[in-house]
Amino acid sequence: MTDPRTDAIQYAHTNAGRFLEQLKQLSSIPSISTSENSKGEVLRAAAWLANHLRSLGMANIQIFETPGLPIVYGEWLQAGKNAPTALVYGHYDVQPVDPLNLWVSDPFSPEIRGDYIFARGSTDMKGQLLVALDAIEAIMQTSQLPLNFKFVFEGEEEIGSPNLAPFLAEHKDLLKCDVAINPDTGALSPDIPCITYALRGLAYMEIRVFGPDHDLHSGVFGGAILNPAQSLCELIAGMHDVQGRVTLPGFYDKVCPIDPQEKAELAHFPIGDEYYLTATGAPGLYGEAGYTTVERLGARPTLEVNGLLSGFTGEGSKTVLPAWAMAKISTRLVPDQQPADVYQQMQSYLERHAPQSIRWSLITMHGGSASISDRNSVYIQAMSKALEAVWHKPPVFKREGGSVPVVLDFQRLLGVETVNTGFSMLDDNMHSPNEKLHLPSWYRGIDAFIHFYFNLAQ
Ligand code: BES
Ligand code: MN
Repeated sequence: MTDPRTDAIQYAHTNAGRFLEQLKQLSSIPSISTSENSKGEVLRAAAWLANHLRSLGMANIQIFETPGLPIVYGEWLQAGKNAPTALVYGHYDVQPVDPLNLWVSDPFSPEIRGDYIFARGSTDMKGQLLVALDAIEAIMQTSQLPLNFKFVFEGEEEIGSPNLAPFLAEHKDLLKCDVAINPDTGALSPDIPCITYALRGLAYMEIRVFGPDHDLHSGVFGGAILNPAQSLCELIAGMHDVQGRVTLPGFYDKVCPIDPQEKAELAHFPIGDEYYLTATGAPGLYGEAGYTTVERLGARPTLEVNGLLSGFTGEGSKTVLPAWAMAKISTRLVPDQQPADVYQQMQSYLERHAPQSIRWSLITMHGGSASISDRNSVYIQAMSKALEAVWHKPPVFKREGGSVPVVLDFQRLLGVETVNTGFSMLDDNMHSPNEKLHLPSWYRGIDAFIHFYFNLAQ
């Protein structure tokens, strides 16, 4: 008798070409959630997934409407009451593609170059989502699934999942499960598979500063009027101290410190300062004093200016004193910081520091909480062994600087831990032009998920 794992992996290898065709199909749908204009395309991606689940033999497939973009649900419960139930999470929306002129090939005409497929959403996360489904198909076609499955695929992850937590809260019974699986994180390199055990949260804001009621001649009025651009820059400059610490009042109050054992583990992280210097091209590193780069990225909160706008930015010169200025600012949060608290802290900061000569407003946008998982759970062990079976070495345990806010919601609302992994690489250009996915790692990922599902059932 042959081993069902070997059979499933054999099937996956034989069907690799077809799996890739399906990835190309899904990646050619421009499901950009940030733009109202793309709504039809996002719906098309939802329909594609619903059909795909149907063709895999899943049951109870539903496309749940939300006030925003829909959630695709499906299930397969024939493993019986004694088998565990895994909830597979994914998002089928993608980031915008601009600046379009920097793409070598069209973002929605997937192209294979060398070991990579290039397309928006290939790595974040259409490819990763399909890993989880391809492994299921491989097992179903060669033996029997050893566990029950539920699927929740959302179309709003890239805009902060505004409708997902309410959906989870409303459908607790339908979504009842033993563990959630989130294949939306990454590996460190093709040789270093990873399990992500912590993700940062996010609080996103926009600050607008208003001065005169229209743009002024900078000679006629400069000297008499406070320039809103200057004022905004001063406010932003004051948001960090010389130690690189964020100065919003109370910002660190709830920050969960790094325990010494974890600190020791992070000290052996296989990627360090050299990597970040070369990968970014920045002339030097920067961060909160007293912490290593790896700690700063995963275990400490940060504040970033995402964009600045004011006055004249065209070609040549124009002597203008602008009427207004605005900045997009986000903070990455760690357990147990709350986005709502951070908005309040920013409000207090502005109340304290904004000068009388300008008016300002703070607009709070989407946010999400950080999460941390138990590194020793049986579920994480099952994934760890699965990755080891394929890569022939244990995975690295990582804290992720990016955010997938649903992970905390799974803990909070469904009471389950999430296994976060994935096969996207740090240099895959996630959210940037020329997003790509490393195909050899993607195929290995399918093999690893086959092992993982069998391990979960043991
Ligand atoms: N897949 C990413 C999260 C991620 C980033 C995982 C880097 C691993 C490495 C996810 O799609 C994402 O981009 N999330 C947003 C969340 C936000 C819009 C709420 C992020 O981190 O900016
Ligand atoms: Mn993303």
